[in-house]
Amino acid sequence: MKIEAKEIVKTYQDKSVLTLKGTHHHLVFEPGKIYGIIGPNGSGKTTLLKIMAGLIPMSSGNMLYNNQSLTHQTMTEMTYSSHSPTLFSRSIYENIAYPLRIRKVDKQMIDDTVNGLLAEFELNKIQTQNAKHLSGGESQKTALARALSFSPKVLFLDEPTANIDPKSIRIIESALKKRNHHDNLTVIIITHNLSQAFRLCSHLIFMDQGQCLFSGTPEEIMATSDPIINDFISYNRF
Ligand SMILES: Nc1ncnc2c1ncn2[C@@H]1O[C@H](COP(=O)(O)OP(=O)(O)OP(=O)(O)O)[C@@H](O)[C@H]1O
Ligand SMILES: [Mg+2]
Repeated sequence: MKIEAKEIVKTYQDKSVLTLKGTHHHLVFEPGKIYGIIGPNGSGKTTLLKIMAGLIPMSSGNMLYNNQSLTHQTMTEMTYSSHSPTLFSRSIYENIAYPLRIRKVDKQMIDDTVNGLLAEFELNKIQTQNAKHLSGGESQKTALARALSFSPKVLFLDEPTANIDPKSIRIIESALKKRNHHDNLTVIIITHNLSQAFRLCSHLIFMDQGQCLFSGTPEEIMATSDPIINDFISYNRF
């Protein structure tokens, strides 16, 4: 699914927190690519991601999905997962199965898919545990497995590896790359981990103070002369 964000503005009361204007007023997300959104705290990354995912309204501007406004059908093909996911007070297994149950997928297919995801994310040993009582990392892995269960076309991820141990980070990155490669999954990921952005993304967007200062390849961002971006990168040496 091709996604376009045109001249998006978001204001809370009188405070403008997102203003896509200037050179990068029109962001285009091509299908089947992995995009990274980076930038300092409070720069508007989550606000932009939630607007794109159709979770919060924009104050002005235009979002297009395959050249159309957001429809219910489009919503069913996209999913959003954050670093502090909301899970149901049921088992890990049931949380991952939920998107398939509401889509009336056949029981055997649900079992096969959920078992595959439990193994892939190394959650099988704790699959019967109540998801309300998980560690931060276990919750994030469960949420991500749930997000992938119904094979969405677009995955919006807000710092999905914020509390995750190094081995699990690689498991998650491999899961994303695999689905991107085999299923043409589009991923738009916010991360504070620049090396992760470089491992995963073919395109990066840099946000600062509600504006997009850069949109281009990882190689292009390393070559930029913008002092704000260079300062940000200098704290992210790897
Ligand atoms: N519901 C809200 N009401 C008022 N202001 C808000 C609201 N949500 C976000 N903001 C403000 O919008 C700005 C951008 O917030 P946002 O969460 O998009 O930043 P971010 O780039 O995701 O930051 P971080 O890296 O810390 O997650 C911040 O100044 C924040 O205080
Ligand atoms: Mg955020």
